[in-house]
Amino acid sequence: MWSPSVIETLRRIEADDVRQKETGQGIPYWRVSADCGKLLYIACRSASAKRAVELGSSSGYSGIHLAAALASTGGRLWTCEREPEKLALSRRNFEAAGVADRITQVEGDVLETLPALLASLDGPVDFAFLDALKPDYVRYLGLLRPHLRPGSLVAADNVGPHNAEVLRSYLETVGAAPFVTSIVPTRNAEGRQDALALSLLGDA
Ligand SMILES: C[S@@+](CC[C@H](N)C(=O)[O-])C[C@H]1O[C@@H](n2cnc3c(N)ncnc32)[C@H](O)[C@@H]1O
Repeated sequence: MWSPSVIETLRRIEADDVRQKETGQGIPYWRVSADCGKLLYIACRSASAKRAVELGSSSGYSGIHLAAALASTGGRLWTCEREPEKLALSRRNFEAAGVADRITQVEGDVLETLPALLASLDGPVDFAFLDALKPDYVRYLGLLRPHLRPGSLVAADNVGPHNAEVLRSYLETVGAAPFVTSIVPTRNAEGRQDALALSLLGDA
């Protein structure tokens, strides 16, 4: 649901982000842009996702978009983050947005926490958003793959040309069957050109 508290919290995070960049005080968010956030919302909601997993919570900006989509589908978000300061920040933002009841925060390094998280789910992952360490995307996908179903969507941020070498293996994997991938040009929160890889797991 695109509620007033969701909208208000997103606008406040954007303003806090601008202030952080101007003053250099506080932690950088490295969040997606507002437009990319809406793309994630549309993709997650259109997939009728019940179980969504996000790797890299930071301030909770993208997570709020996903939780807003999941409020419409009756789903839940598990979001992973290793920095305690960002876990606390995103918790406050999830509460302010009124979406905390849709979210489970998973603390620790994704490569350590993801296997147990995936094993604990009561069904397949319908939607995954990769936004933690870029060189590890291919490993994240390897862990996720047995838990995806035909029709599951995997969105991966920052796949623009500047990361072509780092993400070569990931893009080769999702660029081949059974995945169907569209590279969607985006701009990051600073207005620089980037891209989001949106991959659907087709029928094997
Ligand atoms: C690009 S930011 C995420 C931004 C967020 N998705 C958004 O758009 O609002 C990446 C986040 O991933 C976290 N991170 C990086 N590597 C990680 C790892 N191995 N395990 C867990 N979190 C990690 C960082 O601390 C950072 O907060």
